[in-house]
Amino acid sequence: TTVWVPADAAAVSVGADEVADALVAAGATVRRNGSRGMLWAEPLVEVETDGGRIGYANVTPEGAAGVLDGHGDCLGVVDDHEWLAGQRRVSFARVGVIDPQDVEGFEAQGGWAGLRRALTMSPADVVEEVTASGLRGRGGAGFPAGVKWKTVLGAEADTKYVACNFDEGDSGTFADRMVVEGDPFTLIEGMVIAAYAVGASEGYVYVRSEYPHAITALRRAIETAYTHGFLGRDILGSGHHVDIHVRVGAGAYICGEESSMLESLEGRRGEVRAKPPIPALKGLFGQPTAVNNVLTLCAVPMILADGGRAYADLGVGRSRGTQVFQLAGNVARGGIVELPMGVTLGELVEGYGGGTRTGRPVRAVQVGGPLGAYVPPDRFDVQMGYEELAEIEAMLGHGGVVVFDDTVDMARMARFAFEFCAVESCGKCTPCRIGAVRGKETLDHVIAGRDVERNLELVDDLCNTMTKGSLCAMGGLTPMPVQSAIRHWPEDFDRSHQEQE
Ligand code: NAI
Ligand code: SF4
Repeated sequence: TTVWVPADAAAVSVGADEVADALVAAGATVRRNGSRGMLWAEPLVEVETDGGRIGYANVTPEGAAGVLDGHGDCLGVVDDHEWLAGQRRVSFARVGVIDPQDVEGFEAQGGWAGLRRALTMSPADVVEEVTASGLRGRGGAGFPAGVKWKTVLGAEADTKYVACNFDEGDSGTFADRMVVEGDPFTLIEGMVIAAYAVGASEGYVYVRSEYPHAITALRRAIETAYTHGFLGRDILGSGHHVDIHVRVGAGAYICGEESSMLESLEGRRGEVRAKPPIPALKGLFGQPTAVNNVLTLCAVPMILADGGRAYADLGVGRSRGTQVFQLAGNVARGGIVELPMGVTLGELVEGYGGGTRTGRPVRAVQVGGPLGAYVPPDRFDVQMGYEELAEIEAMLGHGGVVVFDDTVDMARMARFAFEFCAVESCGKCTPCRIGAVRGKETLDHVIAGRDVERNLELVDDLCNTMTKGSLCAMGGLTPMPVQSAIRHWPEDFDRSHQEQE
C-alpha cells in the first residue's frame, strides 16, 4: 500500500515523522508530500486507492498501522472533502498532491508549462500577460505586479535582479512557508519567468532563518532545477541564463520591508531606505530590481500557462485572482484556504474555520498581520479584497486571519501593537521610534485607569502622527490595530478604567 505523509514543518511539529516511521514498520510504501493546509487534521495520512486518496486525520504513531486496514478518523477521498472541494487552488494547486522534491511529479501536474510558454513570448508580452491578469502584490501592498515589472523591464541597465521576499514576518501568516515546503518548484518557475520578463539573469530569495525546513526544501529544489536545465545557462534551450541564490535573514521583522531587505541582502544592517528611488529603478546593488513576495511569484506560472484572462476572471472589483488565506489563532479549523478574492470574512472564519477552538463566541478577527485592523463579527459580511477592506478601515495584507474569542482584552491587544512596533522598529524615523514607545506607555496609563479620556486623546493624536509621518509601513500601519480596537471595543478601554475605580 502506498501512503502519503506530509513532511512539512506544520505536520512534522505534530508528529508526522514518527507516524511515517510507524507506517514503514507496518510495511507501507511511504511517500512524503506537503500539507494540504488542513492543519487541524495533521498528521493527515492519505492511503492511495483506486477511488482516490483516502485521508485519515490526526494519526498517531500507535494508530498508524490501523489506517492501512481502514481504521481511524476517516475523511473519505481527500480531494472531495468539503474543506478542499470548494477551494480554487492556483498557487497551492500541487501542494499536498506531489512530493515537493519530485521534479517529474511537478511536471506531470502542470509544472513548467507557464515557463515553457513564457519562453516562446517576448519579455514585453510576458509582462503584458501579467498586467492583463490583474495580479497585485500579495506581500500586502497590492501594487500591480505587471506595472512593477514593466518599470524594471524599461529601466536601462546592464544588470537587473529579481528579489523574492520570503521574510514572512507577520504573525499568523504561513502561506509562503507552506507553498515553498510543499511545492518549491512553483516558486522557482515563477522567479525564472519574472527574470525572463524583466531582463534579469540573477534572482535572490531572502528567507527568514526561522524557516529551516523551507530553506532545505528550496535549496534542494534549486539544485534539482539546475541539473534538469530549468536554471543556469541556456534554460530549456532558450539561450536565457538565470541563477537563483538563497540568502538567510537574521531575525528582524523590518527586513520584510523591501528596502531593508535589499540592505540586508547587500550585507548591511536592515534599515529602511528613503523612497524614491523605487527598487524597480534602483534596487539591489543599485540596479533595477523586481521585488516580489513568494505568493505573487507563485501565481505567475498559472497566469502564463492558462493566460492572464483566466486569472482575471476570478475575484472581486480590482482584486483579481485568488488569495491564499491563512486561518490561525483561536480557530477550530486552522490552515490554508485559497479562494477567489471576494469571499466574505464570515465564510472564512465561521465556514472554513468553524468558529473558535474554545467554542466561545468570536469577538475579534485581526486581518492582514500584526499591523492589520481588528474586525468585529458585525462586519463579517466584508468581502476580502484590497478596496473592500479599505472601505471598513482594514487591510488584506498578506492574507492572515487571526481569530480571538470573547475573553480577549482589546486594550491589551492595542498595547501589544505599540509594543511590537517598539521592539521591531528600525529606528530610522522619529514618529515610529519614539511614537511606539510613548504609545505603549500611554496605553499603560489607560489600562491602569489613569486619566483615561485624556490619554486616549493623546493616543489618537500620536496615531495620526505615526500614520502621516512614518517613513515606512511599520510605523505607518501600527495605528491601524490600535485605532480599530478603540473604535470597535471602546468598553475595553473604559473597563480598565472602571476596574480601577
Ligand atoms: P508600497 O505601497 O510603498 O509599495 C508596494 C510596492 O510597489 C513596492 O514594491 C514598491 O517598490 C512598488 N512600487 C510603488 N510605486 C511603484 C511604481 N511607480 N513603479 C513600480 N513599482 C512601484 O508598500 P510597501 O511599504 O512595500 O508595503 C506595505 C505593505 O506591506 C503593507 O500594506 C502590509 O500589508 C505589508 N506587510 C507585509 C508583511 C508580510 O509579512 N508579508 C509584513 C508587514 C507588512
Ligand atoms: Fe524604521 Fe519605523 Fe521609520 Fe519604518 S517607520 S523607517 S521601521 S523607524
